[in-house]
Amino acid sequence: MVMPTVVTDRFTSLDYTDFTNNHVFLKGCNNGFFDYNRLGNHAHHEGHKISSPKQLIGDALRERVEGIDPELCEPGAEDTFFVADLGEVYRQHLRWKLNLPRVKPFYAVKCNPDTKLLGLLSALGTGFDCASKAEIEQVLGLGVEPSRIIYAQPCKTNSYVRYVASKGVRQMTFDNADELRKIARLYPEAELFLRILTDDSSSLCRLSLKFGASLDSTDSLLALARDLGLNVVGVSFHVGSGASDPRAFLKAVQDAHVVFGQAAVHGFSLKTLDVGGGFCSDNTFEQMAGVLRAALDDYFPAHSGVNIIAEPGRYYASSAFTLACNVIARRTIEDVTASSYMLYVNDGLYGNFSSIMFDHQHPVAKVLRCGGRVLYNTPAAEATEAADGIEYSIWGPTCDGIDRITESIRFPQLLDVGDWLYFEDMGAYTMCSATTFNGFSNDHDVIYVCSEEGAKALLGLH
Ligand SMILES: Cc1ncc(COP(=O)(O)O)c(C=O)c1O
Repeated sequence: MVMPTVVTDRFTSLDYTDFTNNHVFLKGCNNGFFDYNRLGNHAHHEGHKISSPKQLIGDALRERVEGIDPELCEPGAEDTFFVADLGEVYRQHLRWKLNLPRVKPFYAVKCNPDTKLLGLLSALGTGFDCASKAEIEQVLGLGVEPSRIIYAQPCKTNSYVRYVASKGVRQMTFDNADELRKIARLYPEAELFLRILTDDSSSLCRLSLKFGASLDSTDSLLALARDLGLNVVGVSFHVGSGASDPRAFLKAVQDAHVVFGQAAVHGFSLKTLDVGGGFCSDNTFEQMAGVLRAALDDYFPAHSGVNIIAEPGRYYASSAFTLACNVIARRTIEDVTASSYMLYVNDGLYGNFSSIMFDHQHPVAKVLRCGGRVLYNTPAAEATEAADGIEYSIWGPTCDGIDRITESIRFPQLLDVGDWLYFEDMGAYTMCSATTFNGFSNDHDVIYVCSEEGAKALLGLH
């Protein structure tokens, strides 16, 4: 067994063993186990050490694209696909525990409801933030206890409230009087979190335009909850998805502290603070977490006995998924000085790049395979600033003119039909909001790899 050590760019050194038995499963494909022994230039057989998550991902990408001949393949065989490294999810969890040891994550299923991802998080002991009956059903289907679920949707569907009542999912949020009356009618035993308004002006996706009670209204809401005989157990907030100003967390914790005080006056002894989502997986996380940790220690110290939970989505899912797309068509734009090209790939804004539209993302294309050569994770895969690079715009497959992934990018290579591009950090708010517009599938294969021994053990991959 080889035991190379990899220093990740995150926070720690991690050991990787060989991957002889590292089977990878394809979504929707019973016999779709990816077996590293099948790799042509096999690292294990040749005595190389598979030394990094990137190599695992690269091997899976290579194996897949080298098996497809766009000139001869069956319809759809060249469809876009994901490679998911569940080891990355595991590392993110360790990083969370290191930075926010008092905060129990309830993963926001809406961000990416991939079943293997949920399964790993369940095995890691996280809770789940669900927004609908289908999400709750999916999580309960994994064998998760109802007490590990929060129905974190302040404006709920009546029939879903009846459904969660029948399943014993008690925790849910509210932020207005009508919702309190609904809950009093349909599920008076529910454990309620009062969601408060935040300053989410620094976030990518603002949520407070739609949800959250202002501090002007919290006192009267608590009075109404008391009059209705309801059980308020906590306060929740969300500083906006993709938040960038850590002070938003500080202010929200301070406001939550005020509401805990108001609740006490109304006879509620609140037990839990839910600090929501908004965390990114890049290196802003440590800064965000640092400010939040200090605010919690100031306003809700450990000896207060208040449980702290959170609803991270993007933080766990984003960096674990890499997307590969096939170039299905090319249009040459002749110019007096230089030619440029419009590349059409088989995924776009109506598909997994829905994140451009809904999540304000700017996915960056890299060259996976060009003219038969796989370039993943090499300098040649990267876009170039050089003036002699060839200019491309990148478009999705639908008939809509807004379906453009990249306005302008340069690569050293001349790309053509049949070549492949890849995009990293495609795990958050991508596949979950993809449509089937124009008849293109939104159900794409996910090839799973696992670069962490601990995660493999939890997934039963040994
Ligand atoms: C109530 C709630 N919780 C959690 C999340 C997850 O947010 P993020 O992915 O930014 O962590 C969202 C995202 O919209 C949300 O609406």
